[in-house]
Amino acid sequence: MKYEVKLCEIIKKAEPVPGIFDVTVRAGEIAQAARPGQFAHLLVPGKTLRRPISICEIDKGTSTLRFVFQIRGEGTQRLSEFAAGDCYDILGPLGNGFDLGDTSRRALFIGGGIGVPPLLEAAKAFGKNATAVLGFRNAAAVILQEDFEKYGCKTLLATDDGSAGFHGLVTDCMKDEPADVIFACGPAPMLKAVCAAAAQRGIPCQISLEERMACGVGACLGCACRLRRKDGTEYYGHVCKDGPVFNYQTVVWEG
Ligand SMILES: Cc1cc2nc3c(=O)[nH]c(=O)nc-3n(C[C@H](O)[C@H](O)[C@H](O)COP(=O)(O)OP(=O)(O)OC[C@H]3O[C@@H](n4cnc5c(N)ncnc54)[C@H](O)[C@@H]3O)c2cc1C
Ligand code: FES
Repeated sequence: MKYEVKLCEIIKKAEPVPGIFDVTVRAGEIAQAARPGQFAHLLVPGKTLRRPISICEIDKGTSTLRFVFQIRGEGTQRLSEFAAGDCYDILGPLGNGFDLGDTSRRALFIGGGIGVPPLLEAAKAFGKNATAVLGFRNAAAVILQEDFEKYGCKTLLATDDGSAGFHGLVTDCMKDEPADVIFACGPAPMLKAVCAAAAQRGIPCQISLEERMACGVGACLGCACRLRRKDGTEYYGHVCKDGPVFNYQTVVWEG
């Protein structure tokens, strides 16, 4: 895994939904090396541990990266206070990213809430062959719909209260969508349900997991996750190094 540490200037910042920030940075070699589904580790002033944020978009032409993150605690709060012209201290690109394979296949992207941003760059590669099913609490929480549409993806919304798109779960909304491959990111219960649907329909599926992280590079065991080999035996892997993207059949769900 080849990664760099770099001060990256913020060139664009917006708050599309209260508490969710959309930030583009000049990232030089990190942007050149980045792949869809990878993440970056952002230094928070005054904190020892960096915070992992997925790469939402990569523009190799301008060497920029886009991040979309939600304030969850002190770290993301501090990151949200940076302004255009300030620099993030970024370690990246990290993790394995999605294995896109043949982008002429029909791909189904299933995202839940703040699990939607990591899917955009991969969906972009599939363009009109992609269907994105994006789930949110309500219409006011919807992010990135226009971005998926801009890249030609058929984009369906599902909301818990029915205030936008389908009233209900993404897994019900995706039922009739044809697919040769599925990519998903979101809360664990959603991912579990997507994996069950993939298994039932016999469709290959890659899921991006989130785990609390420390070093971000496989050196500390901070992000251990239970995995299953093809022969059924189990072992502990690292979300930061072996993932965050996993073949759905290798993940052992707790509980
Ligand atoms: C590979 C990866 C990619 C990520 N990509 C994004 C992204 O694109 N956008 C985004 O908004 N967030 C993303 N996250 C989550 C983000 O890293 C956390 O929200 C952030 O680290 C929280 O830091 P904090 O100091 O603000 O909150 P803390 O004070 O550290 O925690 C606040 C709350 O969030 C919970 N929490 C913290 N980290 C995680 C985590 N990794 N998974 C689940 N719950 C957590 C804590 O248990 C606590 O309840 C990603 C996480 C990982 C591991
Ligand atoms: S965060 Fe240190 S091993 Fe993954």
